[in-house]
Amino acid sequence: MAYVVTDNCIRCKFMDCVEVCPVDCFYEGENMLVINPNECIDCGVCEPECPAEAILPDTEGGLEQWLELNAKYSAEWPNITLKGEAPADAQEMNGEEGKLEKYFSPEPGEGS
Ligand code: SF4
Ligand code: F3S
Repeated sequence: MAYVVTDNCIRCKFMDCVEVCPVDCFYEGENMLVINPNECIDCGVCEPECPAEAILPDTEGGLEQWLELNAKYSAEWPNITLKGEAPADAQEMNGEEGKLEKYFSPEPGEGS
């Protein structure tokens, strides 16, 4: 079992989550982060830190596509351990639906 980053992270990318992870298992894309499910120790401390409520345990139903996306891109994107600056319009994007279809970018972020 692992925690996964889901739709509402896209273009919110607040990054509060990376500061609390004891095993540094967040990876950075251009406009969202993902968790490496093989490295996540399921501690749960990141979940309440996310202002977008985008982090969920994979035991919740219907998250298969997100678990797959987290696994795939955590193998491609750089590791991130330091909180950077969120996008200027992060608050306006918080809660918008269907971000995966509209905005997902497979491009890597810079990592830190
Ligand atoms: Fe890191 Fe714990 Fe969150 Fe997993 S549940 S990503 S180990 S903080
Ligand atoms: Fe994304 Fe929430 Fe982290 S918006 S970057 S999962 S704090």
